[in-house]
Amino acid sequence: MRIGTVALVGAGPGDPGLMTVRGLELLRRAQVIVYDRLVDPRLLDEAPRARRIFAGKASGNHALPQEQINMLLITHARRGRRVVRLKGGDPFVFGRGGEEAEALAGARIPFEVVPGVSSAVAVPAYAGIPVTHRGVASSFTVVTGHGSASGRESSVDWARLARASDTLVVLMGVESLPRLARELIAHGRAATTPVALVRWGTTSAQETVTGTLRDIAARAARARLEPPVVIVIGDVVALRERLQWFDDNRALMEVAQ
Ligand SMILES: C[S@@+](CC[C@H](N)C(=O)[O-])C[C@H]1O[C@@H](n2cnc3c(N)ncnc32)[C@H](O)[C@@H]1O
Repeated sequence: MRIGTVALVGAGPGDPGLMTVRGLELLRRAQVIVYDRLVDPRLLDEAPRARRIFAGKASGNHALPQEQINMLLITHARRGRRVVRLKGGDPFVFGRGGEEAEALAGARIPFEVVPGVSSAVAVPAYAGIPVTHRGVASSFTVVTGHGSASGRESSVDWARLARASDTLVVLMGVESLPRLARELIAHGRAATTPVALVRWGTTSAQETVTGTLRDIAARAARARLEPPVVIVIGDVVALRERLQWFDDNRALMEVAQ
């Protein structure tokens, strides 16, 4: 039997229109789709006859362990199937796509990686926040907030990060926000630095809470903000006041209806 193939495909940040042309092409031809929690169900309808396997992954609640996901991809490919591993955002940005690619390479399964539009830049963009802006920010860093919640050692060096980059974009950070804000202030970032929290960005459920490093944790708690959230820290957040095109367009549409 001919060996199948696996494509690690980025589904984009939420809005199905942000999937790439190549990703959609592969999705429509897929026989097996292994997908994550943050993938919009409308994308799966592009391949009505494909077998769908939910791989899960809410924070702390992994529907399938990573090793099992790797084995699934390998097993279906060995059965000659065209497999699409559909992942939120970009497969190689905090998506464990690299581990899946390593497993496929190790098993000598032909694979392809289709980059996706990462929430790290798309979610700020939909909130009206350019991550860089002439005269305001000439660098940005994307980090994970995961693991720094409860005083546990995080692999993120907040002391170094506090001043290393103009804009900080934190994924998976809403649960550790109080500590994260404290650490950044303690290591020299101004307490008045603007911060935005964008939940379910690029979707019709998008909501944004803004504040400063000093008060953002309290504001997030009041708003009962839960994942998925992208945190943007830096002076670029102030641009949102003039550039929040997505929220403005939604408001106009509601008035028109
Ligand atoms: C496991 S990481 C995956 C990131 C993904 N590979 C990417 O490139 O966007 C999941 C985190 O991405 C962020 N995220 C993804 N989609 C989001 C969305 N539509 N709105 C807000 N945050 C999102 C959240 O921080 C969430 O906890």
